[in-house]
Amino acid sequence: MQVITTRKALAELPTEQTRGVVMTMGALHAGHQSLMAAARREVGDSGLVVVTIFVNPLQFGANEDFDQYPRTVDADLDACREAGVDVVFMPEQGEIYPTAVAVTVEPGPLGEILEGAERPGHFRGVLTVVSKILHLTRADTAVFGEKDYQQLTLISQMARDLFMPVRIVPVRTVREFDGLAMSSRNRYLSDEQRTIAACIPRALEQALLAAPMGAEALMAAGLAELTDVDVDYFTVTSPDLGPVVSGEPGRVLVAIRIGDVRLIDNAGVPLVGSR
Ligand code: PAF
Repeated sequence: MQVITTRKALAELPTEQTRGVVMTMGALHAGHQSLMAAARREVGDSGLVVVTIFVNPLQFGANEDFDQYPRTVDADLDACREAGVDVVFMPEQGEIYPTAVAVTVEPGPLGEILEGAERPGHFRGVLTVVSKILHLTRADTAVFGEKDYQQLTLISQMARDLFMPVRIVPVRTVREFDGLAMSSRNRYLSDEQRTIAACIPRALEQALLAAPMGAEALMAAGLAELTDVDVDYFTVTSPDLGPVVSGEPGRVLVAIRIGDVRLIDNAGVPLVGSR
């Protein structure tokens, strides 16, 4: 496995292999390893799987956890080796932002709702760095987890709207024993908070069960599981994050806070019944 840190070294990689890219901010866990496995499936044994590790300052708000974000480089490189990754690109900040940031990628209205409403500017930061990394890595395929569903939706929309020559491949969320979605932020939870956090998958499950009875019943069933936490949002949308249409598939999205830890999750609903 090659570990490189500069744009120049990245540009010098052989160009003939198909490239599958997994973008991360490090603190890798089983969820990331499933992205690496998906990238390998996409490009095959002859392709090049590239993992990028970069904690992107542009997507963190002023009072968010950029400085505290877990940095676990040695363990991350072991995880990449174990997953059979070919190249790890882990640039310093100056490689990605060599000059003051002037031009950015605007997410449009979908970037203003849900996570975007809670974290102003977040998706501008995400789309800007994802676009830079897609260009630098010359990815044929890039895989992203459904855990960050709004991010996945916006990245797919960016690739489509800006005619980027890349295939964006969604990968299912990997969950812990009780259904809690794998996340780098789970490590911030105390034992007691970790137990409480299991209310998120329970809320999604109850919402799914109530979905045939309509959006209101779905909301009530989900929210009934979220009584011990601060709910930033719990909502149902269409699969592309628009208004839910009765009798059609939906997406339930949730964000909660337990103490200082903010967790998000989501699930597809095959059909939402009529109200
Ligand atoms: O999902 C993440 O870890 C980040 O938002 C990403 C896509 C690596 C961009 O910094």
